[in-house]
Amino acid sequence: MAAFNWSDKYSVNVAEMDAQHKKLVGLLNELDEAMSQGKGRTIVGRILSGLVDYAATHFRDEESLMERHGFADIEAHKALHDKLTAQATSLNAEFQAGSISVTIDTMNFLTNWLTDHILGTDSRYGAYLNGKGIY
Ligand SMILES: [Fe+2]
Ligand SMILES: [Fe+2]
Repeated sequence: MAAFNWSDKYSVNVAEMDAQHKKLVGLLNELDEAMSQGKGRTIVGRILSGLVDYAATHFRDEESLMERHGFADIEAHKALHDKLTAQATSLNAEFQAGSISVTIDTMNFLTNWLTDHILGTDSRYGAYLNGKGIY
């Protein structure tokens, strides 16, 4: 069972950000697969850490893109990234400490964590950047 399939509705119409979002989706699917195949904590933990690290890289890249092009809502957007980072970091810390497992609930949480942000927040800079000629 894939966590979810990429579809055009997730596109922010900026190629580099779509590519990074697709990579995040790929990592989520990898995590989902490892979980449903009952892979051990070491493997699941490695994928989860990779996802959290890559999300941090993506957030930084996205923020610098918005900054470079003078997107007005950047501070609010950054605050949401900080909240997402804190949630994912604490989930990962709990997993690595052995106090939680990756379950279907965890997958649902992470899937919503990503898709709600892309659809609800990232979608806003897409049109702005397109207006500046960035695709
Ligand atoms: Fe974002
Ligand atoms: Fe994003």
